[in-house]
Amino acid sequence: MTKTIAVTGGLGFIGSHTVVELIEAGYSPVIIDNLSNSTLSVLDGIEKISGIRPTCYTLNVLETSELEAIFNTHQVDAVIHFAAFKAVGESVLKPLDYYHNNVGGLISLLNAMKNTGRNQLVFSSSCTVYGQPQTLPVTENSPFSKAESPYGQTKKIGEEMLMDISKTGMKTISLRYFNPVGAHPSALIGELPLGIPNNLVPFITQTAAGWRKQLTVFGNDYQTHDGTCIRDYIHVVDLAKAHVKAIEYLSKTEAMFTAFNIGTGQGLTVLEVIKAFEETTQIQLNYQIGLRRKGDIEKVWADSSKANAELGWEAKFDLHQMMRDAWKWQGQLPITI
Ligand code: UD1
Repeated sequence: MTKTIAVTGGLGFIGSHTVVELIEAGYSPVIIDNLSNSTLSVLDGIEKISGIRPTCYTLNVLETSELEAIFNTHQVDAVIHFAAFKAVGESVLKPLDYYHNNVGGLISLLNAMKNTGRNQLVFSSSCTVYGQPQTLPVTENSPFSKAESPYGQTKKIGEEMLMDISKTGMKTISLRYFNPVGAHPSALIGELPLGIPNNLVPFITQTAAGWRKQLTVFGNDYQTHDGTCIRDYIHVVDLAKAHVKAIEYLSKTEAMFTAFNIGTGQGLTVLEVIKAFEETTQIQLNYQIGLRRKGDIEKVWADSSKANAELGWEAKFDLHQMMRDAWKWQGQLPITI
């Protein structure tokens, strides 16, 4: 029988790609999204790609009793929880909003699951929980560090809460994302641009498109081979597929809490990403070297061998494909500044 998966934040960047992959794997997703960082038009893209328009509720996950009604109406089997705020800088300015929405939202969801007898959850976490790891690549056993921002704290607190709650019967998988980039190869869904991007790849594509004058590389005096920071960039479609594997894993595993690093295992500098973009698109990017950004981690990349072995998942897209799809997505966006 088709399994029904509730996807909170299912119209967002990673959520929408995951909904497509769930449909393609034969699941029936039900989206719950309050449109705080998305629009209902994302459903059109999902429908064009998959041929199915999933049920979507415009709802804040803080509304516990409404969540309960949805879980019962649709006989939800498992939940993937994306709905959260994610802007690091904004979280420093509005920490209470972040704790309320991200931690409060998770508590509300867990209550709704408990009250309706649901006990299978996939949680969106981040490599931010590790801070600057002492040893690289980082494994799931690397220690958590004090997060640099309230956003990071909400992910760390979320995971710590889930570790406790899993002991009372909530079977949980935490996926620790590295740096998701790109868009669906069809360019029918991607990351919606809202204001000036904080993240590297949207800033690159918007600069190349003339929306931004110049990209600033935040520092070239780090202890790396070209002086710029190292990250593990992962194609959003690969990341979305990891959620489908996590859902399969949840129904089989006896373990009550499992964390997986979801990255490619390859660390790349900011300048290497820019070079790959230039090679892929044949566009010369206008960039300058600037000062370091406060709170940036020097280098982090994943050891994803646990996800490879236990989830049977691995990243397939390379950096050029990430750049190609990010650029294709940028190309069909309505002109803006
Ligand atoms: C950040 C968060 C991470 C969060 C993610 C959400 C930190 C330390 N990490 O990741 O927890 O999950 O956003 O999307 O804040 N860069 C430039 N110029 C730019 C933008 C970025 O040089 O205009 C550089 C940064 O210094 C960094 C790299 O590009 O070295 C990637 O930055 P970004 O895309 O913002 O992601 P993270 O900071 O790694």
